[in-house]
Amino acid sequence: MELRELRPGDAARCAELEKQLFPGDNPWSENIFMVEFAHPHTFYLGVFEDETEEAEMLGYAGMAMLGPRSDPEFEIHTIGVDPAQQRRGLGRLMMDNLMHVADQFDAQVFLEVRTDNAAAIAMYEAYGFTNQGIRRNYYQPSGADAFTMTRASRSERVNEQ
Ligand SMILES: CC(C)(COP(=O)(O)OP(=O)(O)OC[C@H]1O[C@@H](n2cnc3c(N)ncnc32)[C@H](O)[C@@H]1OP(=O)(O)O)[C@@H](O)C(=O)NCCC(=O)NCCS
Repeated sequence: MELRELRPGDAARCAELEKQLFPGDNPWSENIFMVEFAHPHTFYLGVFEDETEEAEMLGYAGMAMLGPRSDPEFEIHTIGVDPAQQRRGLGRLMMDNLMHVADQFDAQVFLEVRTDNAAAIAMYEAYGFTNQGIRRNYYQPSGADAFTMTRASRSERVNEQ
């Protein structure tokens, strides 16, 4: 298993997985992934079956840094695992790394998730995300609702204990 930052050559496989994982919700195209990877304030990583160039990508995840670098927030843009590889800890592996980056900046993280996506919600709750409210018709064309979830910064979490 190999975890590394994503590059333009990975965009097609990301788009392929998106089509499988988000069929009714405007899955991102290869071009959108290219633009995301090129953005200076995004961080994308992927899990591969091994370290060779031909290795298949099994999962991908990305987030963006928003606001000033001295006091940023992060937003998870997407995370997905090949349906055949789910429930093997790959989601956790990627989340561990994304949350580590956010904690290095002592930053809050937020995201949107479909209200019927029990698997993802359970994973986010395990990382300390809490539900802040609903956005109606957030996903298109399905019209599905989203929860907005946030995870407090590391120092806020420590102070709450
Ligand atoms: C959400 C997703 C990325 C999780 O990836 P994964 O590799 O299967 O997750 P892991 O095996 O690392 O599991 C992490 C935790 O997520 C939760 N979880 C994952 N799948 C679950 C399921 N089917 N039911 C309930 N909880 C689930 C559990 O809390 C799990 O921890 P546990 O195994 O210790 O109980 C994966 O289900 C996926 O790709 N879903 C489709 C795309 C998606 O919905 N992305 C999120 C958009 S907001």
